[in-house]
Amino acid sequence: MSKKIETSAITAGRPAVTPDAPLNPSIDLTSTFHSGGPIGYGRYGNQTWTSLEDAISELEGGQTLTFSSGMAAISAVFSILPMGAPIVASNQGYSGVMSLLNSFHTSGRLEVRFVDVVNTQEVIDAMKGAALVWLESPTNPCLDVADLPALITAAKKLGIGVAVDNTFATPLVQNPLAMGADIAMHSVTKFLSGHSDVLMGSLSISDPALFKRLHDSRSFNGSIPGPFEAWLALRGLRTFPLRFNKSQESAKELVKRLTSHPKISRVRYPGFGAIVSFEVDGTAEQTQKVCESSTMIAHATSLGGVESLWERRRRWPIESPTVPEQLIRLSVGCEHVDDIWDDITRALNAI
Ligand SMILES: Cc1ncc(COP(=O)(O)O)c(C=O)c1O
Repeated sequence: MSKKIETSAITAGRPAVTPDAPLNPSIDLTSTFHSGGPIGYGRYGNQTWTSLEDAISELEGGQTLTFSSGMAAISAVFSILPMGAPIVASNQGYSGVMSLLNSFHTSGRLEVRFVDVVNTQEVIDAMKGAALVWLESPTNPCLDVADLPALITAAKKLGIGVAVDNTFATPLVQNPLAMGADIAMHSVTKFLSGHSDVLMGSLSISDPALFKRLHDSRSFNGSIPGPFEAWLALRGLRTFPLRFNKSQESAKELVKRLTSHPKISRVRYPGFGAIVSFEVDGTAEQTQKVCESSTMIAHATSLGGVESLWERRRRWPIESPTVPEQLIRLSVGCEHVDDIWDDITRALNAI
């Protein structure tokens, strides 16, 4: 019987047990290796990455490659598509990915068919002749959920590759490779590493031939993580299930409280996870003031760390105009839920 995720997060990616072997992998700070081995040079591999990659593979399945950031992992996937290849992607999602896809579409690098991922039939109708379906679910920051089993099954029937950005749901909630997807992607920066001290990305890949192509892409584009960052990410991964479950429990409680708050007009929450997006009943300026008025919740972008963070997403010029000006994305951390709530209500009282 395979181990539970809570156990794998702690036991995976450790050195072999021999007398006096360390419990943790070493940080292999080296740019090159003595000849004769399978790695050869520091852009092709590193034992510290391998420990982290083995651990992520135990959580997501397949074989894993880590990258210098989540965007680097995503770019590697698009880099192996032929010039002008048609792909299907959500019309809203993480602004960095949306900007990349828009630029690829405009330049002709890819033909992107933008769809509403919540509308399953619309996504399936767009699949004919596509080279890849790129899915982010739940989406950032509106938290829309795609019907992954239905979409993956439809794509597979047509022989189309499917990649899923699993950053928000994490393998504790959904497992894209088990549903038949080809790639499960993470911004490791977020929940997997969990301490807002690392930028990193990963791709877990089911097919060995696809793994080899993406490994080559990483080697030759040089989008590799640093060994120290890999070690930090693995250290963070050990407590990922504890952190995620705690934050999720608090998020569910905060959703209840936010829903009945008179200054909140809408709460978005997919029923799982540690991200809550809500709309302030007021102007963009008032919403901005709320974010700037917290004393414990950090007014900062990013998510998935032990510390609660929030921001008004439209403060970023690249954020989609379909995201409401009054929308705050809250990443619920591991502080006591009552302290998070006190800070939210104090900040809301500032308007
Ligand atoms: C859903 C999602 N995917 C990908 C990324 C990009 O990851 P990174 O910032 O590690 O490059 C982010 C970053 O916020 C994200 O939220």
